[in-house]
Amino acid sequence: VTRTAALVPAAGRGERLGPGAPKALRELGGAPLLVHAVRALAAATAVDLVVVAAPAGSTAEVAALLAGEPAAPRPAAPVRVVAGGETRQASVAAALAAVDDDVDVVLVHDAARPLAPSALADAVVAAVRAGHPAVVPGLPVVDTVKRVDGTGRVLATVPRADLRAVQTPQGFRADVLRRAHAAAAASPGAPATDDAGLVEALGLPVHVVPGHEEALKVTRPLDLVLAAALLARRAGAGPA
Ligand code: C5P
Repeated sequence: VTRTAALVPAAGRGERLGPGAPKALRELGGAPLLVHAVRALAAATAVDLVVVAAPAGSTAEVAALLAGEPAAPRPAAPVRVVAGGETRQASVAAALAAVDDDVDVVLVHDAARPLAPSALADAVVAAVRAGHPAVVPGLPVVDTVKRVDGTGRVLATVPRADLRAVQTPQGFRADVLRRAHAAAAASPGAPATDDAGLVEALGLPVHVVPGHEEALKVTRPLDLVLAAALLARRAGAGPA
């Protein structure tokens, strides 16, 4: 049997969103961001287990929140809750440690991307199972991107056609993600902002598949406005 687990780092404070509850617990359309994200993962055909890394003081609250989730549209994948860490990387590592040995593919998905469709998770898992050790969803970049120095002087314009804005869920062979996190934990330096970056540091190939506009990350207040509009559009279109 092959099994797939989805890890959800949800322990960020979300300071760029303004004052209030930890970001993953902020409400969107009547449910916390985290609940939306976990629902979509648990409904993905490919996902057998979800592990949430919650804010350290909130594990019981988060477990209770997720326990009330309906099992539709199929028997929902079971959800485990662990305490997250000081950085996203530490939170992912804590969730990874709670994954069983028979799991061979692992997704990592930000709680801050509440509207990423289940089909995106399935597509990423399929690409891993097709032979890619690490897979990230990515979209073309719409803005022109410039490299600048500390004074604001432009050093270069990065050719836009070469760039992708990378999202989650990212997918990995479980052994590759474990190796990447072990190597990162053993080396000093800034913690990674995504898991594929740790795999790149090992020198292993990372493959990009098409991302999805609705997999946007809720970071700033305007993102919540956009996410609420997307949710309302979905409700207007009837059940997906
Ligand atoms: O900070 P950013 O918005 O990039 O966070 C991405 C994801 O990482 C969020 O879902 C956040 O809750 C999570 N995170 C975490 N532990 C931290 C910091 C961030 O699980 N210490």
